[in-house]
Amino acid sequence: MTDDIDRIMEVMAAAFDPTFREAWNRRQVEDALKFGNSHYCLVNEEGEWPQDDEPTAGFWLSRTGFEEEELLLLGVSPAFRRKGLGRNLLRKLQGGANERCVKRLLLEMRRGNPAESLYRSCGFYSIGERRDYYLTTSGQRIDAITFACDLA
Ligand SMILES: CC(C)(COP(=O)(O)OP(=O)(O)OC[C@H]1O[C@@H](n2cnc3c(N)ncnc32)[C@H](O)[C@@H]1OP(=O)(O)O)[C@@H](O)C(=O)NCCC(=O)NCCS
Repeated sequence: MTDDIDRIMEVMAAAFDPTFREAWNRRQVEDALKFGNSHYCLVNEEGEWPQDDEPTAGFWLSRTGFEEEELLLLGVSPAFRRKGLGRNLLRKLQGGANERCVKRLLLEMRRGNPAESLYRSCGFYSIGERRDYYLTTSGQRIDAITFACDLA
């Protein structure tokens, strides 16, 4: 588990632009993973779970509530982007959530994040927004958009 948290933190540091203050610190990740309702996934550049000496290309972290699961973090390191790994990770999330009998996936995204087209192409649709939810390092406020995806 410690190794996996190292891998998550490594991708987190590379993937998330500090301007938007979306990245979690190690303590937040550790705390999230203490509970049985948290789930995560790691992938190498082939989209498989990385072996010991392989670099980690991407990850997600989610939390299940009653019949719903929230995607808390999704990241792919810049060196591995636009090769389908983000989509691969979302498909794994959807498959895992289905097995957990989840009915609906939820996530929150900063307005303007290019990830929106990925989410929409994977079946997510917007269900609401929180005005001025994010505060950037330069003091700019940005809305959060909530997306949902219904599972079979
Ligand atoms: C969002 C993110 C996970 C996408 O990872 P990825 O591996 O590059 O995604 P994919 O290669 O699977 O992209 C699939 C499709 O999504 C769309 N897409 C993904 N990134 C895009 C971008 N930056 N701009 C425009 N479209 C994009 C494209 O349609 C893409 O298909 P294409 O490459 O054939 O055009 C990655 O950019 C990332 O880690 N971003 C920073 C962290 C972040 O914002 N996470 C989401 C928080 S809500």
